[in-house]
Amino acid sequence: MNILAPSILSADFTILGQQIKETEAAGAQYLHFDVMDGIFVPSISFGLPVLKSIRKASKQVYDVHLMIEEPIRYIEQFAESGADIITFHVEAASDSREVIDKIRSLGKKVGLAIKPKTPVEAVVPYLEHIDMLLVMTVEPGFGGQSFMPETVDKIRKIRERVSSLGIEADIEVDGGINDKTASIVLNAGANVLVSGSYLFKSDDMKAAAAVLREGKSC
Ligand code: DX5
Ligand code: ZN
Repeated sequence: MNILAPSILSADFTILGQQIKETEAAGAQYLHFDVMDGIFVPSISFGLPVLKSIRKASKQVYDVHLMIEEPIRYIEQFAESGADIITFHVEAASDSREVIDKIRSLGKKVGLAIKPKTPVEAVVPYLEHIDMLLVMTVEPGFGGQSFMPETVDKIRKIRERVSSLGIEADIEVDGGINDKTASIVLNAGANVLVSGSYLFKSDDMKAAAAVLREGKSC
């Protein structure tokens, strides 16, 4: 079964707790939490106090996506604030191995993210040391952007690498995932789907979640 990770960046923050419970009721196993620092990406989102506060809203796996420069500075605090998976960008860390080891030492799962224009080779050396590879299918920074079809080949290449290494790493995709693009990324080898605007703007989140997980077009 594929895993669904709703991105609360597109939620209605006036009723955030309620919206999180809604994603859980819709069968989403993960909750995707986008942290932006205004430096690695142009926008600023939310951070530690928000994570700490919403941790009690559900029993989902809290999937924290750090879009911040030199993530090593904040790994410990995100772990303490309730992250289950901590994903950082290979482009943002001067020593990715150090960040991986830090996340592991805190007993959390390790995710490594790659931007659309970064070649696959940048993450290959780390594949055996991580739990999840996050392939960005839009330029990171904002919700509601259109899926970039040129990223499909990258998903396929990473899935091939993971299979040939005989490892279990998940492949997560993030950006522009909807009823049209879910089947494309699932066929290319992704198994964890982040979705923000498609899920939160749908009239029936349960139905939209089922469509995404099964990769069927409406
Ligand atoms: C973008 C974020 C995404 C974003 C996805 O930088 O990493 O998680 O919320 O939003 P949609 O699904 O609307 O593209
Ligand atoms: Zn994200």
